[in-house]
Amino acid sequence: MTRSVEPRAAVDPFGEEGDGGPPLSERGWRITVRGLHVVFVLMLTIAVVTIALSPVDGSKPALLAALGVLAVAYALLGAPAITSRDQCRATAYLVVLVLVFGVLAWQEPSLLFLLFLGYPQVWFLSERVPRGMAWTLALAAASTIGPFVAWSRGDEPISGPAQTLVGLVFSLAMGLWVFRVLEQSRQRALLIRELERTRASLAAAQHERGVLAERERLAREVHDTLAQGYTSIVVLAQTAAAQLDTDPAAARERLAVIEDVARDNLAEARAVVAAFRPAGLEDSTLVEALERLAARFARETGLAVRVDTSALGSGPELRRDEEVVLLRGAQEALTNVRRHAAATAVVIRLSRVAGQVSVHVEDDGVGFDPDSPGGAGLEGLRGRVAAVGGSVDVASSPGAGTRVTVRVPGS
Ligand SMILES: Nc1ncnc2c1ncn2[C@@H]1O[C@H](COP(=O)(O)OP(=O)(O)OP(=O)(O)O)[C@@H](O)[C@H]1O
Ligand SMILES: [Mg+2]
Repeated sequence: MTRSVEPRAAVDPFGEEGDGGPPLSERGWRITVRGLHVVFVLMLTIAVVTIALSPVDGSKPALLAALGVLAVAYALLGAPAITSRDQCRATAYLVVLVLVFGVLAWQEPSLLFLLFLGYPQVWFLSERVPRGMAWTLALAAASTIGPFVAWSRGDEPISGPAQTLVGLVFSLAMGLWVFRVLEQSRQRALLIRELERTRASLAAAQHERGVLAERERLAREVHDTLAQGYTSIVVLAQTAAAQLDTDPAAARERLAVIEDVARDNLAEARAVVAAFRPAGLEDSTLVEALERLAARFARETGLAVRVDTSALGSGPELRRDEEVVLLRGAQEALTNVRRHAAATAVVIRLSRVAGQVSVHVEDDGVGFDPDSPGGAGLEGLRGRVAAVGGSVDVASSPGAGTRVTVRVPGS
């Protein structure tokens, strides 16, 4: 009966999922097994010819019968066990092998050259090193007893056991070495698989981080552009509704502003979808974009808004991403002025100090405590500015207005 067994730890030629893979390729293993069969047939043929040519007739039938038993056992037990790794068949074959060698050594020690076949077979059929060693010793013992008894009787010189001893030492050394090499190769394969797994999970984590960063950027863009536009539209619509009966002309003007804001929002939405670039900077400089922003803000809120570029001076051009964060900073600060400051005037100031370019948005409103926990607006702005190596500074206190400064390193 065939029993399925655990895969061999050291000589499992193909390995199992998760054990680090095979030390030998499938093709390499097939060729090795075929080679073993060929060597078996060849050596057995040589042994049969040796027996046929032997002058001693008496032991011939016993020797040929022993070799016949070995051939049948190899066909039915040994060969299938090598490929199926069935330890029951392997053990049965090894028992036959040891007995046959006992007979051969007893009857015809010159046939002990077959040990060159027997020892490798032992190692190929052994699952672990101790098992291989035990069967090697058993085979050596079986091959030694006969000649030893003959020698002790004074019949023959002790050449057989000496050869067996040399073969034994050689076989043990070879078996241990092969097991060691296979074990090292298995360990290496395990390591490689582990490295591959780590690399794959690293790539997945990086991808995940990229997706998260992209999502965060998108959220920031929506907050900084579309949400602010909609805030304006809501406020303007409320004002227009309130003015509709009392001051239709003013209400009409508000409606015109609502249309403008909605158009800008549409342009921003398209820019966000296109490449996350602010529509304000599409085909104009930062100063022009800030002036347009200020004019629109003044129209929407009725506040006095001034853009001061006197401290800008001249210097190297800013990078595109630096211009974008400065414009976004001004937008966020102005939205906060509209929503929280109750101010009457706002100044947007551009300055350059030691190469660093800053946008300051200053209002004369109610102010607040900058250390108190804030919303997503300023927090998001800090993240966005930090991404280009800049910083955000909020100077304010209750009743004393607010100044938001966004600073970028400058190219
Ligand atoms: N110019 C300002 N004047 C007075 N208070 C301000 C001003 N700017 C910010 N604040 C205060 O700081 C808080 C945090 O602002 P932040 O922009 O981070 O969040 P938010 O405006 O409340 O919400 P969000 O911007 O996420 O829609 C505000 O809630 C407000 O109390
Ligand atoms: Mg805000």
